[in-house]
Amino acid sequence: MTVTPATAGWEALAAARTRGDVGEGIASVLALLGVPDLISFAGGFPDPETFPRERIAALLQEFAAGGELRAFQYAPTRGLAGPLDAFADRLERLQGRRPADDELLITSGAIEALELIGKSYLDPGDVVVVEGPTYLGAIQAFRSFEASLVAVALDEHGLEVDELERQLAAGLRPKLLYTIPDHQNPAGVSLAAERRAPLVELARRHGFLIVEDVAYRELGFTEETLPSLWSLGPDVVVQTGTTSKTFCPGVRLGWAVGPAEISARLVAAKQLTDQCAGALGQRLFEESSRRGWIDEQLTRSRALYRRKGERMLAALERSLPLGARWTTPRGGFFSWLTLPGANSIELASRAVEQGVGIVPGTLFFPDGRGADTVRLSFSLVDDARIDEGIAKLGALL
Ligand SMILES: Cc1ncc(COP(=O)(O)O)c(C=O)c1O
Repeated sequence: MTVTPATAGWEALAAARTRGDVGEGIASVLALLGVPDLISFAGGFPDPETFPRERIAALLQEFAAGGELRAFQYAPTRGLAGPLDAFADRLERLQGRRPADDELLITSGAIEALELIGKSYLDPGDVVVVEGPTYLGAIQAFRSFEASLVAVALDEHGLEVDELERQLAAGLRPKLLYTIPDHQNPAGVSLAAERRAPLVELARRHGFLIVEDVAYRELGFTEETLPSLWSLGPDVVVQTGTTSKTFCPGVRLGWAVGPAEISARLVAAKQLTDQCAGALGQRLFEESSRRGWIDEQLTRSRALYRRKGERMLAALERSLPLGARWTTPRGGFFSWLTLPGANSIELASRAVEQGVGIVPGTLFFPDGRGADTVRLSFSLVDDARIDEGIAKLGALL
């Protein structure tokens, strides 16, 4: 019998770039969602309680009754004018800088922005510096373009910029540096104010582009906000943002803002991914933002996540053995555990047997480090079950 793909499988035809070690990654985290009755500290999902269902229903009614056309039609690749203006307004108000029209584009979620950046700027073997640990989706996105990922360590004040500087001086030559300065996923830490301008300066001096992911920036537990890297260095930073945590992920929406030349390349690449972000979602977000509903939602969400975060930290304090350490987030969804001597992959599978979902830290490093670390997300767990879940984890340890 002749061996054909139909008999031997299609692997031989797969593109070389898909054979890189992209791994199960996010899919394995999403799969945990299907386990019944799991107390899941695994996914970085927003609490459905924050979703503005009634307001979205009312807006859809309004669009239908008012003869709205834009929401139901194809949109320009960069985005519809009204929603672009609404995003620019928010950037101006929240980050103190209004982007020029040719600096901003609307994407289908932040993950698409990362995909567009990779597609436009990465050749096989190019070096991308990431934080160790970092967002799994970013590792997967950059790997899918066969980039070579180098992780620079984080501490409780975010990326170790001094260490980066040492590595640059020793010859490290990245094209991109990807960072999540605010309430980082997975570590739950933020980049200290005094490290921000020096990081931007390093990009200028060494000629790399900073990719600033602000997925959790608006979800601080207090009023404290630090200057975004993009506002400090609009010449060397492209910022990617998402409405998944501030509005709802069912509307796949985000933005990318950076130097006009870069923005133009991303728009060109976007024509060949989805052509435009869904106009319906763009209009829902625009109206919600203009009416002040996003700010109201944010006020409630921030209080909710703060309450859950504090509850989880208190439970960790009660339940974890001596020697365990964890970060104290000032916003976002995550705390990062270090459990000296533990094997977190084994721990995660034993935890699932006990009905608790956690993510082993190794997934968040591009180089296999993090065997004794775990990401805990408090965003999706019901308040009362936080104590139960952490107590079970403590008992396992
Ligand atoms: C740091 C970070 N960036 C980007 C994303 C993806 O956002 P989106 O839903 O807009 O693709 C996430 C989602 O978990 C995230 O944690």
